[in-house]
Amino acid sequence: MLVSLPEANKLLESGEVVALPTETVYGLAGRIDHDKAIQKIFSTKQRPFFDPLIVHVNSIEMAKTCVSQWPEFATLLAKTYWPGPLTIVLPKASQISGLITSGLDSVGVRLPRHKVFVDVIDEQKCPLAAPSANKFGRVSPTTAEHVEVEFDQRVPVVDGGPCTVGIESTVVLLRPHEKNFSVLRKGMISETELKQLGATCGYEMTASHSAIESPGHLKHHYMPSIPLILVGGEVKDLKKKIEESLRDLPDSVEGVKLIRPSKIDSIHEMKLPTEPALAARELYTELRNSAQQGSDVIVFKLQPYHKEKSFEAIMERMTKAASLVL
Ligand code: TXA
Ligand code: MG
Repeated sequence: MLVSLPEANKLLESGEVVALPTETVYGLAGRIDHDKAIQKIFSTKQRPFFDPLIVHVNSIEMAKTCVSQWPEFATLLAKTYWPGPLTIVLPKASQISGLITSGLDSVGVRLPRHKVFVDVIDEQKCPLAAPSANKFGRVSPTTAEHVEVEFDQRVPVVDGGPCTVGIESTVVLLRPHEKNFSVLRKGMISETELKQLGATCGYEMTASHSAIESPGHLKHHYMPSIPLILVGGEVKDLKKKIEESLRDLPDSVEGVKLIRPSKIDSIHEMKLPTEPALAARELYTELRNSAQQGSDVIVFKLQPYHKEKSFEAIMERMTKAASLVL
């Protein structure tokens, strides 16, 4: 259900949830001071409580109210990339409820680069928690229409046009005491850039210490409604090979249901632009459109350039969206 900005503000004030545009993907937003709103985010998405939400702010000052430590490196990151597709995870302030952080002592904060979202935070004068506005495990929305389809028009959404970045923010975890950081989720801001920036204030990049530090990282995610199959090279009798391989798959993996057509009559070949920024922008729309062509499966042919660093974040999502890699 499309709503205007004033309507969205009213709903948020009363503890409702509203889908809002960001430059990465549309988020399902709720005020962090309304437990009812936070609970509604989880129930609307059918999202498990072990997957923490990102808190969106309109300034560095507001970000500081959400965390208990704000090191120099955070200022440097925020000044370099905010507003933009970077989420900074730091020890949380006591005002941030454990519902938002899945009981963790840390919280992810981000200042998005979309006027609508920032205007709403300005008006609310309160940070907004917002995960991507899709059902758990499914493809993230990059248009208001995607949100409408995902939730059968039942969720209020402000139309802010198509998202310009197209994939979710890069998530970095800072450990101020150890003076190091880890990239928990890849995005369009590269690890090489972050590493160089970290070095200027004595921060080293390390691998994430444990699964607890990096929740919400399931094997399957971003899955379209029909199977996506990544094909690495020449496969003889592709239809037969796909049929056989799909038969061996389980019904669901980590709570995400896999769809298995009994036979393959038609295959849709999905294509992406060769330029990484454009490929990211079109990725989720392409995944959704590919699933609506009336075919039984989607095939995506892997090319040598997909192995390049600039495609890493995109290919990570393609791999998680895929039922099979042949
Ligand atoms: O671009 C984005 O980040 C979008 C837009 C709406 O801002 N949001 C988004 O949220 O992708 P979501 O909920 O789909 O992904 C949040 C992920 C979690 O699954 C987790 O991996 C990480 O961010 N995260 C959030 N808080 C964390 C924390 N305290 N510690 C570690 N990881 C955290
Ligand atoms: Mg998501």
